[in-house]
Amino acid sequence: MSEQSEPSERLTAELLEIALEAASHAGAFLRDGRPEDLGVAATKSSAIDVVTEMDIAAEKLITDLLAGRRPDDGLLGEEGASVEGSSGVEWVIDPIDGTVNYLYGLPSWAISIAARKDGETLVGVVHAPMRGETFRAVKGQGAFLNDRPARVRPASELGLALVGTGFGYLTERKVHQAEVAHRLIPEVRDIRRGGSAAIDLCDVAAGRLDAYYERGLNPWDYAAGDLIAREAGALTGGRPGEPLSPALAIAAPPGLFERLQARLDELGAWHD
Ligand code: IPD
Ligand code: CA
Repeated sequence: MSEQSEPSERLTAELLEIALEAASHAGAFLRDGRPEDLGVAATKSSAIDVVTEMDIAAEKLITDLLAGRRPDDGLLGEEGASVEGSSGVEWVIDPIDGTVNYLYGLPSWAISIAARKDGETLVGVVHAPMRGETFRAVKGQGAFLNDRPARVRPASELGLALVGTGFGYLTERKVHQAEVAHRLIPEVRDIRRGGSAAIDLCDVAAGRLDAYYERGLNPWDYAAGDLIAREAGALTGGRPGEPLSPALAIAAPPGLFERLQARLDELGAWHD
């Protein structure tokens, strides 16, 4: 089968292998290269600079590896990678998702790498070195956490749901996101703010969260995690009838998804 028609198993296997290798290299680089006293001894701005440098260097490490293996593919990365490509395959890369966790030495940060073709994500890898966890999925082949299949929890009632969310960097957006969360908290079991959207989506996939929602993500935050959550049995989307997008991302098992989506729509989680 050619790369122009249905993606072949050979293609997806190749993309997965390359994504796993790139994520593992970047993970080792970020884990071993992070100064231990980053958030403590360094001044605020220099600590942030070190993280920015690590972020940029990790993205370069990933894009160099991808370009070496598949020179005709497109690239889209949080730190600025932007290559059109001619093969129809595009890589979507977040070298550190959970940058603030990385800065503070919290373990929930990850390298997120997805490969999509004709707008459809075929492969997703989210590698969280400090958690010793690699999530992966290939479209139509299920999701895995390390070598075990990942599966969402059975749908709970909204009132019993543990719901992950996140807040943007802009104050204006944060104020409204806090209002939405303020209204939602009494209606669910509790909320969690893990600090990495990619890991939040994977935690839904692994049944560690019942659901997750956030407004204002970028494609590199969710491309891999979205596929992993769906392949683990979650529904993902935005406003009712709309796909997951930067405007709104929701993930939950069928049954809970519809209820949470409807409630978030009423609460205006889709606007600032
Ligand atoms: C952020 C994280 C965070 C989410 C933010 C993202 P970054 O990505 O995913 O959990 O709440 O919206 O921007 O900046 O750590 O790569
Ligand atoms: Ca991110």
